[in-house]
Order: sequence, then structure tokens, then C-alpha cells
Amino acid sequence: MNYPNFTTEHKSLMRKYLTKDVFEELKDKKTLNNFTLENAINSGVQNPDSGIGAYVGDQESYTVFASLFDKIIEDYHGFTKDDTHKSNLNVDDLDAPLNDDLDKYIVSTRIRVGRNLDNMPLGTSISIKQRAEVESIVSNALSSLEDDLKGTYYSLDGMSEEISSSLIKDHFLFKAGDRFLETAGLNRDWPKSRGIYHNDNKTFLVWINEEDELRIISMQNGGDIKTVFARLIKAVKELEKKMSFSYSEHLGYITSCPTNLGTAMRASVHIKLPNLSNDMDRFQEIANKYFLQIRGIDGEHSKSVGGVFDISNKRRLGVTEVQCVQDMYDGVIALIEVEKSL
Ligand code: ADP
Ligand code: ARG
Repeated sequence: MNYPNFTTEHKSLMRKYLTKDVFEELKDKKTLNNFTLENAINSGVQNPDSGIGAYVGDQESYTVFASLFDKIIEDYHGFTKDDTHKSNLNVDDLDAPLNDDLDKYIVSTRIRVGRNLDNMPLGTSISIKQRAEVESIVSNALSSLEDDLKGTYYSLDGMSEEISSSLIKDHFLFKAGDRFLETAGLNRDWPKSRGIYHNDNKTFLVWINEEDELRIISMQNGGDIKTVFARLIKAVKELEKKMSFSYSEHLGYITSCPTNLGTAMRASVHIKLPNLSNDMDRFQEIANKYFLQIRGIDGEHSKSVGGVFDISNKRRLGVTEVQCVQDMYDGVIALIEVEKSL
């Protein structure tokens, strides 16, 4: 493999930190699952507009290719190789009272965590047989959940176009054919062993075998962030009794993309900010101050529609789950104050 042909269009953190020296050091290395540097950077090389541009194949990749990933992780999360990750899933430690403004401006709230099974390669390097094994372990575990977590698993293989499009449009299901995931090897054998589990009112959902083997999701209309967080914690604790997740003391929960390490948590609201949308510099300044990320309403890499944005925590590693939700809450309160003043 030769050093990639980067152009001025390549803006990712991978491109920034893959110097010729780092490339020479890593180019012939591979993990026990045969995951190589070429596999790790393909998505960022093929998609010049990537922000991050690299994925791992397994937990071991984070050590084998550390000279690249440590720098990406430090840049994105502000977390160095000497830091340790901490967890806090106590909902009572969250200071997020509900008020009228939150319910007025927030359309819906969603909190998700990513998880991958211990002793299993990640989706980027998993075999068709192992992927089916993941689907079977996770869907069996889900079928034993009770009360408000009780639901049904729907396989994507054989799901009608009509049902999948409506689930995607209503923000419940991941979309097919994402070019970043495609080039990372995450869409191999699509749609086999992919699917979605949800309870009747779609407030608790689990995606199986998308970017991570599990995405555990709690969501509902309106701005009651604490209730959404409490439901997510309950579900995560129930699932932990039934399976073991890939975890490291240093990096927290292991995920295929370095942006999701640690808590693997993204707490978001869809929020109406039509005035602020006319001053994107000011909007971005507030987002930076509160460690927030701004997305459009049809998921990552989509656009805002009608002044509604997806606002979420940006940091996930080296901060606790409570802090992730707190970042989002504090930032949203600040955004609403400015929106009202405009
Ligand atoms: P993630 O990595 O968190 O799964 P995406 O940005 O790909 O992120 O979003 C996945 C789906 O979840 C999309 O359909 C998106 O519109 C939806 N979504 C995200 N946040 C919310 C929210 N607060 N309310 C409703 N839908 C949401
Ligand atoms: N690989 C994409 C990029 O570099 C997405 C990175 C973060 N998002 C994610 N879903 N992992 O822009």
C-alpha cells in the first residue's frame, strides 16, 4: 500500500494525523482479525468530506494503530492517552428540571448509546456468521424484556420498502447505503442480520448491526430529558444482565468510530431555533462553548429543515454519561435564551 493521494478536499482528522512517518510505522501492521491500516482509513480516503475519516476493526486496533488513533481521539474528545474514563449512570445526579420553554422549543428528545459484544470483531471486520450470531444473541435477549421495554424485533431482511421508509422518515430507523459506512466495510452483506427492535409506542428501540452491533435508544416527543435518560439507563442495565459488552478501562465502551468511545452516548434534541438559524456564526459559538454538535434533522450529514436542528453533546470520552446529558441540557437552555432575545 502506498501513501494515499490526499487532495486539498481531504479535511478529516485522519488526513491531519496520518503523516508520512505515521504511515510508514503502521502500513504493514494488522490485528488478529486481519484488520489493516488500509481498512481503517478507507472511508476517509474515499470520502474527502469526512470529518474524522477512520474506523477500527476491533478493540485491538486502538493499540495496534495507536499512533494514529490516539491523536484523533485527543483532538475530538480532548482526552489524552494518560487520562482514564469514568462512568456515572445515576439519573439523580442530572440537574435538568423541565420548564415551559423546553416543551415549547423542543420537538423531541433522544438519547442513545452504542455497544458491541465482548470477544467479537466489530462490524467493520465481522464475518457473515458472526454477524448472524450477534443478531441472534441480542434479539433473544430483547425478547425477554418486560413492561415498558417489551417489544418486537423486525429484521431488515424482508422488510417492505414501505415500512422501512416510514420508519426512517419518522426518525426511528437508520438509513441504507450511507457512503461513510459503506467504505468502512460496515454495509457488507446488507441487509442480512440487520434489524430494529422497538416497544409499542416506539420510546425504546435497539438497532442491531448498524455502525455498532447495538445502538440502544430512548426517545419521545417533547423536552422531558430526564425521563428519556431514566428509561435508557433502565434498558442498559437490563441488557447488561444478559450479555457482556466490549469495554476498556482507558477507552470505556469500544465502538467502531473513535468519536463514540467512552460513554458511546449521544443525547440530542430536535429543537426549533429559527432566529438563531439566521446567525450561524453566533449559533456555532454557543455550541462550541457548551461542547455541542449541530446536525440537521434527518441524521448526521443532513440539513436543517424549517429552523429545526439536532443539538447533541459532542464529548463522549473522559466525561460521564450524566455529564454528556448535562452538556446538552445546559447548552440547550443557553440556546433558548438567545433565541428568545432575537
Ligand atoms: P446517531 O449516531 O445518534 O444514531 P444520527 O444523526 O444518524 O445519529 O440519527 C439517527 C436518527 O435519529 C435520525 O433519523 C435522526 O433524525 C434521529 N434523531 C436524532 N435525534 C433525534 C431527536 N432528538 N428526536 C427525534 N429523532 C432524532
Ligand atoms: N466517518 C464519518 C466522518 O468522518 C462520520 C464520523 C462520525 N460519525 C459517526 N457516525 N461515527 O465524517
